[in-house]
Amino acid sequence: MEAQTAKTALVTGATSGIGRELANLFAKDGYNLVLVARSSDGLKEIAGEYEQQFGITVTSIAKDLADPKAPEEIYDETQRNGIRVDVLVNNAGMGEYGMFANETDLQKELSIIQINATSLVHLTKLYLKDMVQRNDGKVLMLASVASVAPHPLMAVYGATKSFILSFTEALQNELKDTNVTLTALMPGPTNTDFFAKAGAEGTRVHQIAQTTEAAKVAQDGYNALMKGKEKIVSGLMNKAQVAMAHVLPDEMVTGSMRKQLERPNESEEQDHSMLITAIAVGVVAATTLLWAFGTMENGWKGEAAKVRRKAKSTGESLFGKLSLN
Ligand SMILES: NC(=O)c1ccc[n+]([C@@H]2O[C@H](COP(=O)([O-])OP(=O)(O)OC[C@H]3O[C@@H](n4cnc5c(N)ncnc54)[C@H](OP(=O)(O)O)[C@@H]3O)[C@@H](O)[C@H]2O)c1
Repeated sequence: MEAQTAKTALVTGATSGIGRELANLFAKDGYNLVLVARSSDGLKEIAGEYEQQFGITVTSIAKDLADPKAPEEIYDETQRNGIRVDVLVNNAGMGEYGMFANETDLQKELSIIQINATSLVHLTKLYLKDMVQRNDGKVLMLASVASVAPHPLMAVYGATKSFILSFTEALQNELKDTNVTLTALMPGPTNTDFFAKAGAEGTRVHQIAQTTEAAKVAQDGYNALMKGKEKIVSGLMNKAQVAMAHVLPDEMVTGSMRKQLERPNESEEQDHSMLITAIAVGVVAATTLLWAFGTMENGWKGEAAKVRRKAKSTGESLFGKLSLN
């Protein structure tokens, strides 16, 4: 890949997990970096590493994105230092596990909304207006498969991820005639500190996460971002899950997520490969059925057209716009 030494990427949540891997990819491609997270020691260590290894300039900004003032302060700091942000990566995020009514902590949940949604909107507002003015720029939004499937036991987290996807899709439409692109990265469960921090260790979804490395998710997101794609669901099984969420009844999708988010009984042997195969077969069957129904006009043209549209979006989700990898 070509080095683009003059460009700068700002990555939030760059000290661990997917954000750290994304920062690696930008650094390897010669981007200068602005790295944001709470831990100033963590940031300094990474900054030193990148500067030495890749000869790029790294600016560390230690901020808590739960603080409503943080986005403005980050923006001001980049302005003061004359840094033009060419790529904004809204990656920082966290979750909270438990029953909303009587287990989870409200203050933590309000912070999650602030970090995952409000700060993301605020940072996007600040940097996007400059990008639009220059008619050049890229934004990567960390959505999730949770964006299309409500997350019982992580209700607030799931809702913030739906918000991110909806927000991103609306902006994509508003900016479709410009050279500014927005890309939604939709990972499934990924092997990072996320689950421990959310108190979701030992859940089925945490077990599934062990099989997907953050580096692979970051690479998928990075490739899609560079190509200006609208969205990328990382991983075939996650593509299947997203496609299913578009065709199955809402309560079935939510019920299935609840199962994934529960902790399995010790006696329960979960065979993930069987589950995954069943999901894939189910999606293909659902798509085929929908196409078949879609071709039956028999006096219910309106319904047939509706079903065809659903089938088309399912097919596109699986094989088209969401690139397979
Ligand atoms: N892991 C998954 O299964 C998964 C799946 C789908 C989507 N995602 C999304 O991917 C993104 C990254 O998650 P991850 O899995 O890589 O998690 P992670 O390993 O826990 O990394 C989270 C990053 O965000 C930073 N951060 C957390 N709270 C912050 C705050 N208040 N202010 C500033 N920075 C903060 C953390 O650094 P500090 O602690 O130093 O602040 C860290 O760098 C999140 O948006 C998450 O929702 C993750």
